[in-house]
Amino acid sequence: MDALRTHQLSKQFIQKNGEPFIAVNNVTMSIEEGKIHGLLGPNGAGKSTLINMITGSCMPSSGEIVVFDNNVTDKTIQSKQVIGIVPQEIVIEMAFTVYEVLYYFSGMYGISYAERNKRIPKILEVLDLSEKAHERARGLSGGMKRRLMIAKAIIHKPKLLILDEPTAGVDVTLRQRIWELVRELNKQGTTVLFTTHYLEEAEQLCERITVLNHGKIVKNGDLKDIQQEFSKNLIRFELFDRNTTHLEEVQQVGMAYNYPIKNLRDDLDRIAAFYKDNLKSIRSEAASLEEIFLNLTSK
Ligand SMILES: Nc1ncnc2c1ncn2[C@@H]1O[C@H](COP(=O)(O)OP(=O)(O)O)[C@@H](O)[C@H]1O
Ligand SMILES: [Mg+2]
Repeated sequence: MDALRTHQLSKQFIQKNGEPFIAVNNVTMSIEEGKIHGLLGPNGAGKSTLINMITGSCMPSSGEIVVFDNNVTDKTIQSKQVIGIVPQEIVIEMAFTVYEVLYYFSGMYGISYAERNKRIPKILEVLDLSEKAHERARGLSGGMKRRLMIAKAIIHKPKLLILDEPTAGVDVTLRQRIWELVRELNKQGTTVLFTTHYLEEAEQLCERITVLNHGKIVKNGDLKDIQQEFSKNLIRFELFDRNTTHLEEVQQVGMAYNYPIKNLRDDLDRIAAFYKDNLKSIRSEAASLEEIFLNLTSK
């Protein structure tokens, strides 16, 4: 079963100058139950807008979203029950204590008093917040607030956990903690969708990725397959002076260049003969996710 399906999903905003702006453009994607799925894309690609439509906090302009067989627009309550969301921005009831935040929030999901009092201490322990249980949220550090947001997102045991840049601006230790927790929840059966700027994070965690650019899907699929596709048949080289003419097949990727291999030996000779002394380095090797990402989103 699919944990999530979107069909031709779009969102158009009206900008301040009255002009329409399409933030999410005809996105059709699915996430299989039990997977960890990475949603990648540069700033402004439409990741948060897409996520906000999935979680029901932003109305689609057109298209469909189905979460575990519930259409999000018709069955908003049912679909919200199975989703846990860690939004990009920190939103917590600052005047409440950590315990109260979790207590009232889980009450909204219809969890009984007794069950809440059982779950909350456990979650606080997992997220290393036990000592802060009775402190007001406004007094927490940034990292603690982030952990409280995660606690809030998982207290009702969602089947689909969505995290929007959960590790942006957090220190290395907390980042590792979050990765561990995501893996653990996934092992227990939670499907995970998350966005990130750290491609290393996606490489570590995801089986499947969707890359968005300017609101559109530019790549979608199994991470290993995508890496294979990009690493196949590529020579990568750097130049001392980038202000030069190029062979026709050459593609610039960040500070380096890629060249599609037809015959490795001939191609190496051809590149060497063309760039001569300007050639700084040359190799053929597997593409990292970072290279793939730059290649997909710099066009
Ligand atoms: N409420 C809004 N009104 C107008 N434009 C918006 C609104 N929300 C987002 N946008 C625009 O939509 C684009 C995508 O934003 P967002 O989904 O936040 O991207 P990402 O999360 O990938 O960085 C951006 O250009 C942003 O300025
Ligand atoms: Mg965002």
